Amino acid sequence: MAPSLDALEHEALAALAQADTSAALQAWHGKYFGTKRAKGELERAMSAIASLSPAERPAFGRRANEVKQALAAAFEAKQAAVKEAELEAAMKAGALDVTLPGATIPRGRLHPSTLTLRRIIAIFARMGFEVYRSPEVETDEMNFGLLNMPPEHPARDMWDTFYTTQPGVLLRTHTSPGQIRVMRERSANGAQPIRVILPGMVYRYEQVTARSEMQFNQVEGLAIGRTITFADLKGVMAEFARHMFGSDTRIRFRCSYFPFTEPSVEVDVYWGLATERDRMITKGTGWLEIAGAGMVHPTVLRNGGYDPAEWSGFAFGMGPERQAMRLLGISDIRYFWQNDLRFLEQF
Ligand code: DAH
Repeated sequence: MAPSLDALEHEALAALAQADTSAALQAWHGKYFGTKRAKGELERAMSAIASLSPAERPAFGRRANEVKQALAAAFEAKQAAVKEAELEAAMKAGALDVTLPGATIPRGRLHPSTLTLRRIIAIFARMGFEVYRSPEVETDEMNFGLLNMPPEHPARDMWDTFYTTQPGVLLRTHTSPGQIRVMRERSANGAQPIRVILPGMVYRYEQVTARSEMQFNQVEGLAIGRTITFADLKGVMAEFARHMFGSDTRIRFRCSYFPFTEPSVEVDVYWGLATERDRMITKGTGWLEIAGAGMVHPTVLRNGGYDPAEWSGFAFGMGPERQAMRLLGISDIRYFWQNDLRFLEQF
C-alpha cells in the first residue's frame, strides 16, 4: 500500500502547483482533505490500513501522517502566495482607488452674530473685561426702575417691550439691568471694583423693518472704580474701535441722553464716504453710531450698592448685529433670525 501514498502525494503536489486562484485552491483542498459532505482522497487512502497485516500498519500510518502534514504545509504556503497575488492584481486593475474622496460629513458653522460677539468679547478680554451673564427675562424694576426710570418716566417710551402674564415680569429691552445685578453681587460683601461686559439677547415691541428687529443682541460694558473718569471711557472706546474696524479708525462722541448715565454720549466711528454704500450706511455723514455710553448715574451706583461719593464708573451699550451688518455687508437685519441656510452658509 505504501506506493499508493507516494503516488497520492506526488499527484496532489502537482495539482497544487497548478491551482492559481482562490477557487482552484478551495477545490483542491476539498478533493484531498475532504469537505463536510464528501471524504477526501487522503482519508480514503488511509482507510486501506484496514487491509494491512498488523506488522505493516505502523509504517503505513507513519507515512500517511507525513503525507498529510506535507500537503497541509504546501497548501498553506500556496494559499498565502495566491492571496497576495490576487490583491496585487485587484489593485493594479484599479478595484481599490485610494485617491477617491471620502464621504463628506457636513460641518456646522457659527452664526454671524456669534462670530461678531466673539470678536467683541475677545477685544474687551484683552483690556481686562470679563463676561458676566444676566437673564433675558427681567423684572420691571431691574429693566427700568433701578436704572433711574420710575413708573411713568417718559424715557420708558424708548423701550417698549413684551410683558409676561406675571405682573412686573418682562423680556428685557436692553442689557443694562445686568449692571444692577453685577453691582449688587460685587458689593454684597464690601464694594469691589468691576470690569465686565454683558452680552446677550434683548427684545423690543417694534415694527420689524430692514433696520429694526424685535430681538437682537447687545453688549453692555461696565467699569466701576475709585478713579474712573470719562477719559477711561474714551480710551476704551477708541481702543475697541481700532481693533474692530482697523488701526487708523477715528471716533467721536456726541452729547446724548440716557436716564442711567450722566453725562451721556453716543459713540461714532468714522466710516468714510468713498462709495454710494458708505453714504447709505452712514446716512450721508460718514459717521457710524456704534454705542450709547456715559458715566454711571449716581442713583444707579447707589442702587447697585456703591457710594457715589467714593466710586465712579462708565457704562456703554452696543449692538453687534449693527456692527456685523457693516463689517460683513449685510443689508437687512431681518436675515439674522430667519434661519435661511442660503444666508447662514455665507459666513
Ligand atoms: N441701554 C441703552 C439702549 O438700549 C444703551 C446704553 C446707553 C447702555 C448708555 C449703556 C449706556 O450702558 O451707558 O439703548
